[in-house]
Amino acid sequence: MTWGAAFRRDHPVDRRPLAGLTTIRIGGEAEVVTITSSAGLVEARSVPHRFLGKGANLVVADHGVAEAVLRLGPAFSTVAIDDAGEGRGRVRIGAAADLAKVVAACGRAGLAGPEGLAGVPATVGGALRMNAGTRTLWMFDLVERVEVLLPGEGAPRWLLRDEVPAAYRTSGLPAGTWFLGCEWLLERGEPGALQAEATRLRQAKAASQPLAERSAGCAFKNPSASLAAGRVVDELGLKGTRHGGAEISTVHGNFIVNRGGATAADFYALVRLARQRARDERGIELELEVEMWNPPGDLERDGHG
Ligand code: FAD
Ligand code: EPU
Repeated sequence: MTWGAAFRRDHPVDRRPLAGLTTIRIGGEAEVVTITSSAGLVEARSVPHRFLGKGANLVVADHGVAEAVLRLGPAFSTVAIDDAGEGRGRVRIGAAADLAKVVAACGRAGLAGPEGLAGVPATVGGALRMNAGTRTLWMFDLVERVEVLLPGEGAPRWLLRDEVPAAYRTSGLPAGTWFLGCEWLLERGEPGALQAEATRLRQAKAASQPLAERSAGCAFKNPSASLAAGRVVDELGLKGTRHGGAEISTVHGNFIVNRGGATAADFYALVRLARQRARDERGIELELEVEMWNPPGDLERDGHG
């Protein structure tokens, strides 16, 4: 990629394996660019790129990606908590902030709601993009407004919650939208109770999901609210199936874990196996929730938005 000298001086650019920037620890090299200030946004948008948050929902090809991989630096990770009157609090959060830290800060401040996202590894930007959540709460349930840079637009702007067609695991905004931050308007709660609830939810998650292992979260979307992909994979008897260093988790059928040395090709093999068996034996199409960067043709994105 060709960057101007001034851009390179202000915004670190280096080539490195993406495996170390993802939670599943898979993926080849790319040029990684850290945008350190709003001044870098426009130039960064002018090159072919992909956007990286915490890398908790990504499987990157073994040969990496050709595009620049953009990350938001610490200037985009501010968390400001203010009194909003009427017994409520307003939280303004930058997209690079770590969701777990924001959840903890709100608990300490006695602001209720975010504890429902405890245990979801993400940056705030990645959680907005994915409308990440649990069975009881999705990211956009908390959002009052969101700051975005929309494709084709030259400057960021705020969208109200009602202007965002968020749904299950998608913000609904066009591909190429950059999330720069959001604002939550939250009711007051008792800090001790909120923190205890966050701990309870994290522990419940850890009891049913392989949180201590390397993964990219659930591999597949649930086919419907009443049919969990993990249950389908489990009922097909696939838990514990290995391919190279990858394994369909013995704990939860919708997680594919890196048991050591897994490649993207290992991951693809298990995805193909689960989908084929679900289709042939149950007539169920398992759609990917994990985002794949540079996958083989048969695994090109299917409905991810
Ligand atoms: P990344 O994985 O880095 O990126 C995901 C997508 O968001 C990519 O398309 C990327 O380009 C885009 N993106 C990231 N930041 C921005 C930005 N600022 N602007 C525009 N696009 C951006 N998910 C759940 O919903 N619920 C769960 O309970 C859950 N549990 C998990 C447990 C484990 C152990 C793991 C590893 C994952 C889990 N996940 C879960 C998946 C993951 O937490 C979410 O998908 C999360 O939203 C990913 O955020 P991220 O910052 O890591 O995004
Ligand atoms: N189940 C099995 N076998 C398994 C796994 C699950 O039978 O191996 C059954 C469970 O017993 C339960 C049902 O399937 O009856 C649902 O399982 P669970 O409660 O674990 O929830 P899930 O639907 O599998 C969803 C999200 C998770 C989120 C949890 C908790 C999706 C794809 N997954 O999982 O999100 O953490 O609810 O709220 O929507 C993610 O998106 O990456 C993710 C981890």
